[in-house]
Amino acid sequence: PETGCLSIIVLGASGDLAKKKTFPALFNLYRQGFLPAEEVHIFGYARTKISDDELRNRIRGFLVDNKAASSKHSDDVLKFLELIKYVSGSYDTEDGFQKLDKEISEHEISKHSHEGSSRRLFYLALPPSVYPSVCKMIRKCCMNKSDLGGWTRIVVEKPFGRDLESAEKLSAQIGELFDEPQIYRIDHYLGKELVQNLLVLRFANRFFLPLWNRDNIDNVQIVFREDFGTDGRGGYFDEYGIIRDIIQNHLLQVFCLVAMEKPISLKPEHIRDEKVKVLQSVLPIKDEEVVLGQYEGYRDDSTVPDNSNTPTFATMVLRIHNERWEGVPFILKAGKALNSRKAEIRVQFKDVPGDIFKCKKQGRNEFVIRLQPSEAMYMKLTVKQPGLEMSTVQSELDLSYRQRYQGVVIPEAYERLILDTIRGDQQHFVRRDELKAAWEIFTPILHRIDDGEFKPIPYQPGSRGPVEADELLGKSGYVQTHGY
Ligand code: BG6
Repeated sequence: PETGCLSIIVLGASGDLAKKKTFPALFNLYRQGFLPAEEVHIFGYARTKISDDELRNRIRGFLVDNKAASSKHSDDVLKFLELIKYVSGSYDTEDGFQKLDKEISEHEISKHSHEGSSRRLFYLALPPSVYPSVCKMIRKCCMNKSDLGGWTRIVVEKPFGRDLESAEKLSAQIGELFDEPQIYRIDHYLGKELVQNLLVLRFANRFFLPLWNRDNIDNVQIVFREDFGTDGRGGYFDEYGIIRDIIQNHLLQVFCLVAMEKPISLKPEHIRDEKVKVLQSVLPIKDEEVVLGQYEGYRDDSTVPDNSNTPTFATMVLRIHNERWEGVPFILKAGKALNSRKAEIRVQFKDVPGDIFKCKKQGRNEFVIRLQPSEAMYMKLTVKQPGLEMSTVQSELDLSYRQRYQGVVIPEAYERLILDTIRGDQQHFVRRDELKAAWEIFTPILHRIDDGEFKPIPYQPGSRGPVEADELLGKSGYVQTHGY
């Protein structure tokens, strides 16, 4: 690994994302020794005029999630907070960024007693509307200037635009200032343990290789549910809706890893090439294969317009035009204010031909990968009912991570991804052409929703969503199994 001075600059330091995700992830990396104090300095940058200590006080409470942990780690918390300095300034004028550059350079000089390169990581925990001006300022005032090598990288969060056109515009603006290897487009689902496991599962197991195709698989569901509504984020959410917030990014990334062909190696570019190919093979979404919903009470939020048409729920079918998947529906489903919080992939296999056991009555073979909560994988299969009679029953082969990997701490998605940005590994980040292909799939339907042509169906908070979505599942071939 590279050594030398590392400056991590969190822009938008007093915002929600920075407090809840970025700083806690940095703290966890620090605690595990990945951010050694003799090399690392962290800068917060935002418009609010506050002191270093005020910023530290604002984030302190978010660093550890419970009281017991906070007393155990209080020493670490203090040492970590000491690494953080705050600089205030605007997002579109040079003076603030010059001040920031001065601070970073001073820190680099002070730590250059041992020779090394200078590494500058800018984390934009900011709304995308300011990305172009912030990138311009970084480019102008804050690039790594060390003769000893190093780099400047930027991390950007979704939403990357609202549709194909705006995303392309944003990509072009940033692309003029930074090269692709310097840009890390984060999608935190790519940092989840079981999402990272998908490649291994599919390509390192003989079990799955011959079965993973249209001859054996009837349908695939990729599901995200939350049992809470937009909770104080109504204003943000209403501008985007569930398709832009969850499906176009998080679920589509999972879709890529489930459906793509085997990459020729684990090199990030090889993996991302395959993701782009499968995205480009997706056929236009059909109107009759989309159900939108909006939970009752969503418009009660004062920041949401009374006549909002924004979907808080969507189920839609993606179809892939290639040899492996022709005819297999990939059902993407996401919703807020539903009956449970869960994210999972359900791969349902076709019925057994020439069945002599009447297996169909028991339910189909199904392979379920639960991304959260309680990571698990299980296979629903038919076995003989234990006992004297020759009858069958559906049972499960179950790999529950909590039981199998007791004591292993599964890292937070943001932790891994930030570490990847420091190490320069872009495997789990979205490449520009991948982003474009993703927007190409959803832009037509998004425009029609924005134009009011497609209206969401109301559903009860705490329910499964509109019944029409379950009907679409049935029409797509999904056979409901007991308890689901
Ligand atoms: C975010 C969305 O990207 O992901 C939120 O903006 C959503 O609306 C969140 O709640 C879900 O993330 P996780 O990791 O809790 O599933």
